[in-house]
Amino acid sequence: MKKSDDLARASAEHKRLGEEIAAHDRAYYQEDAPVVSDAEYDALRRRYEALEKQFPELADEGSLSRKVGAAPAEKFAKVAHAVPMLSLGNIFSDGEVEDFVARVKRFLGLSGEAEIAFTAEPKIDGLSCSLRYEKGLLVSAATRGDGLIGEDVTANVRTIADIPEKLSGKAPEVVDVRGEVYMSQADFSALNAKQAAADKPLFANPRNAAAGSLRQLDPNVTAQRPLKFFAYAWGELMWGAVQPETRADSQMGMMALFRAFGFSVNSLTKVCVTAEDMIAHFHDIESRRSALGYDIDGVVYKVNDLALQHRLGFRARAPRWAIAHKFSAERATSILRDIEIQVGRTGVLTPVARLDPVTVGGVVVSNATLHNEDEIARKDIRIGDTVIVQRAGDVIPQILGVVPEKRPGGARRYQFPHTCPACGSAALREIDPRTGEPEAARRCTGALVCPAQAVEKLRHFCSRNAFDIEGLGDKQIAFFYEKGLIHTPADIFTLAERDRQSLTKIENFEGFGKVSARNLFAAIEARREIALNRFIFALGIRHVGETNAIRLARSFETFDALRETARHATPDSEARRRINDIDGIGDVVAEAVADFFVEPHNERALDALLKEVRILPMEAVKSGSAVAGKTVVFTGALQKMTRDEAKAMAERLGAKVSSSVSKKTDLVIAGAEAGSKLTKARELGVDVIDEDAWLALAGGAAGQT
Ligand code: IVH
Repeated sequence: MKKSDDLARASAEHKRLGEEIAAHDRAYYQEDAPVVSDAEYDALRRRYEALEKQFPELADEGSLSRKVGAAPAEKFAKVAHAVPMLSLGNIFSDGEVEDFVARVKRFLGLSGEAEIAFTAEPKIDGLSCSLRYEKGLLVSAATRGDGLIGEDVTANVRTIADIPEKLSGKAPEVVDVRGEVYMSQADFSALNAKQAAADKPLFANPRNAAAGSLRQLDPNVTAQRPLKFFAYAWGELMWGAVQPETRADSQMGMMALFRAFGFSVNSLTKVCVTAEDMIAHFHDIESRRSALGYDIDGVVYKVNDLALQHRLGFRARAPRWAIAHKFSAERATSILRDIEIQVGRTGVLTPVARLDPVTVGGVVVSNATLHNEDEIARKDIRIGDTVIVQRAGDVIPQILGVVPEKRPGGARRYQFPHTCPACGSAALREIDPRTGEPEAARRCTGALVCPAQAVEKLRHFCSRNAFDIEGLGDKQIAFFYEKGLIHTPADIFTLAERDRQSLTKIENFEGFGKVSARNLFAAIEARREIALNRFIFALGIRHVGETNAIRLARSFETFDALRETARHATPDSEARRRINDIDGIGDVVAEAVADFFVEPHNERALDALLKEVRILPMEAVKSGSAVAGKTVVFTGALQKMTRDEAKAMAERLGAKVSSSVSKKTDLVIAGAEAGSKLTKARELGVDVIDEDAWLALAGGAAGQT
């Protein structure tokens, strides 16, 4: 009983945090205009990850811990990265450095005493960029984007003096040189002085200035901006027929190679062999921070040996072989003027603090999220209070709490609204049936009448991983909603026809025109067919992210089958069990799916929508690996790698690793002294291979590395 209560609570919090983090990712990566400090963002991420650690089932569902950054902005051409550009995990204290080192050793099956060399180097506060050189010539450059697809900034990058057009020395057939584009503090100040003189908006900090300068549609503008570049990583690397002078087999060796190619690499990079060395170098860099002339926000540690890096591999969004140790935050105080409420897609009311603008280390901050009403009560935050605002290495601040002695006589407690500010419906804290306690979030009950929720739902419906309708962005949806032209998903698909018959044409609306109206209709038309998994995801069913949408699509195969079952999925019914039995789908998700399909308004909205669109079979999972999509089981003692390492390798190749053998198992990898699982596999006729055969299979499947 207790466990499922905790899970439900954690799941609600996880979901809320996920929405908040995604919004911050968009503000930071797409708009170059973050609204919270790095420290606050990191705190949200840490809490999010802690929940997933405690309840691994949460990590399944389209979890943000599997995503990097944000999708590229529409205005740029897109470039697919040959090797994904990953993010880094963060740590914040000296003690965690030891944990990191221990984790690396454990994964590799090494003893605590074994020595592993790590590099320690400044974490540059700019934006990462991948530069592709073919036969030594720069052919393209891309921002990180969502890690898989970035924005094409080739023309802009060609204007950066630090980035060679042609590599010096012997160049490989192909290499993606990766590093950070940044702006020095002096150049940033000069740029802002120029902006001020020309009555143009100022940049908040060097990072934003660098990002804003690189992500320009006009390369002539970039050329006027003094950008710099440090190389620190690489993506694809193929020497081809070229014989390298020295084949770099370490991180330091790669840095030397980059230098030989003609790049700047950071001179504070050092090899350390113990956690103590790493921590000492961290504090050394920290003490030099203010004299560097460019912003850094921490130190990055990387396993030096590339072969070990390869064995360690990646988790969902970050490598196991590297981590960022962040500097602690800078603080300031400001006055809380007001608290406003934002209403999200699921109706959650989120309080946002409006502050007197305050500069913390060069960044002006005027907003911060206050999470929920309990948080406001717990910190006893009142309007008029002087609040402590915290900022990490670069961007904006978070509210740590209040300065009680500065509380003015008139400070007033905030009355959290019990009605939705967008639609006036009652806003309730649902009682969790399992705990009998109210949830942390207060939700608007006007699901079908609330414009804020409706607009958020429509945005989700049109978003990139759902219907992906170009030209129907956040602004346009809010606009069409307000005009009464789009209230439900089906309305999107009847828009063109209604426009044809209407006297007030969209092309005459401000901001539109003949061409953009025509493009919009064409973009909508192009999305009348959609893969089943995307369709399910687009519906915005609670707890059904992309991963669960794929699970449902794979299991039911057709939308009708899913709908028919879900409609009858009352608690304890055969239908409910059918959903619940899907691997990875638990009670909470099954209940949410059932709730969605029995709701009469949803039924009507679906009927209307199904008249407009055609659902295609699920998208094929992209993969070239021999074990992709297969269920594998490891048993017995492995000699050449730890169980964790083997498991990670299998997952990297797209396999599902299970702990027990059943009819559904495709492959069993049996190490020494394998016991009952091996016997069972033989009984069931499941394929069994040994560790060497597995390595051959996995190595072959992994292909070029
Ligand atoms: S290594 C696979 N080294 O930090 C690991 N990243 O928080 C690739 N960054 O996306 C990253 N300085 O934009 C690395 N010396 C450094 C860095 C660095 C800054 C950025 C980079 C990365 C982000 C992760």
